[in-house]
Amino acid sequence: MRKPLIAGNWKLHKTLAEAQELARTLKDKLQDEQRCELVIAPPFTALAAVAEICRDSPLQLAGQNCYPATEGAFTGELSPTLLQDAGCHYVILGHSERRQLLGETDTFINAKVQAALAAGLKVILCVGENLAQREDGELFDVIATQMRLGLAEITSAQMAEVVIAYEPVWAIGTGRTASADQAAEVHAFIRGLLQGQFSSEVSESTRILYGGSVKPDNISSLMAEPDIDGALVGGASLDSASFVAIAHYPR
Ligand code: G3H
Repeated sequence: MRKPLIAGNWKLHKTLAEAQELARTLKDKLQDEQRCELVIAPPFTALAAVAEICRDSPLQLAGQNCYPATEGAFTGELSPTLLQDAGCHYVILGHSERRQLLGETDTFINAKVQAALAAGLKVILCVGENLAQREDGELFDVIATQMRLGLAEITSAQMAEVVIAYEPVWAIGTGRTASADQAAEVHAFIRGLLQGQFSSEVSESTRILYGGSVKPDNISSLMAEPDIDGALVGGASLDSASFVAIAHYPR
């Protein structure tokens, strides 16, 4: 059985005070949540303070990125170890915004995946096609390449600490959600890739999240799909009522 995971990616939002307030509200409203694993990814500046608030709550923290080195002359970067030191259990890697805006390659993302896992952090690895790729019929090639290169050198045992997030770029922040059928088709494809790249056991046990304009009113139809194991929520995670409603989605 795969426990659903609902993750909130706060991206570049929330001052320290705003992050603390949101975390306190989420802790209060989600204190008894047991059906889903809950993860929030505040900006780096708020991680330690939010970790303090979320202590003894079901809310776990994720970093929004990391650099593939433990320490050194890497100005502006954070290591997996520093994320753990700030209270993180997870790190989000390969987000399309970093691929697009910062030119991150699959090879670089793979180095981060390896470094994060080696340090003991769990990884949420994002994959997804842009609109042109989908329209040109490249959807499955794009996803297969991102999976193959992003998870190169990762062992089946390490896959227990990896979550995949399918995020079609055209659905991120646009209000245009993939239909449950569209998402389910790609999730089933990713599960097949996991079987080929690793094993049936890894394919069956790895959680695959959907991300892209997830809202309280579409989460239930997405979660009704057997291969959708949760959501990576952007905009709707910035509002406590929305994120709580998503976490408490009706079956
Ligand atoms: O990491 C989250 C995704 O990019 C989805 O963002 O819910 O604002 O579309 P969104």
